[in-house]
Amino acid sequence: MINLEDYIRDIENFPKQGVLFKDITPLLADPKALDCCLEELIRLTERQKITKVVGIEARGFLFATMMAKELGAGFVPIRKSGKLPYATLKEPYSLEYGMDVLEIHEDAIEKGDKVLLHDDILATGGTARAAAKLVEKLGGEIVQCNFLIEIEFLKGASKLNKYEVRSLLSY
Ligand code: PRP
Repeated sequence: MINLEDYIRDIENFPKQGVLFKDITPLLADPKALDCCLEELIRLTERQKITKVVGIEARGFLFATMMAKELGAGFVPIRKSGKLPYATLKEPYSLEYGMDVLEIHEDAIEKGDKVLLHDDILATGGTARAAAKLVEKLGGEIVQCNFLIEIEFLKGASKLNKYEVRSLLSY
């Protein structure tokens, strides 16, 4: 029996002083843990009908792509400003200090697509909320927002209260 928490490493003061970073690279490096994590994330979706899995740069891409394959859905990346090559829709979001912009290709979602939005971590929720807005502006329906890790005290789920939010691990 695998306990996924055993494969997540705490790194103090990364990327800056006072932040406790949840490092998932040990989980990614272990084939059994990787398999178990994918299986558990798929279980969270309850195999609802999903046509697109949208992953948020960068670590959100890892499991979003695997989940898309497993669910028989397409994968769509949401990236930070200036990374996507085709015409994009943009959505600003706030960081701890200042603002950034997320982008999606304007033809990435079809009207009526049933979307699973995935990221590795839900912290303050600003990133996921901006990503969800992009999906909805293109006519997609968010079936679930799905995270590997939720940092509960930051209350990110409250920014996503119009969606079904599920997380595998909570700290
Ligand atoms: C982290 C994480 C989420 C986001 C969550 O990404 O992977 O995408 O922060 O934060 P929030 O809920 O407070 O908005 P980061 O911005 O560090 O980018 P990266 O994955 O490209 O390193």
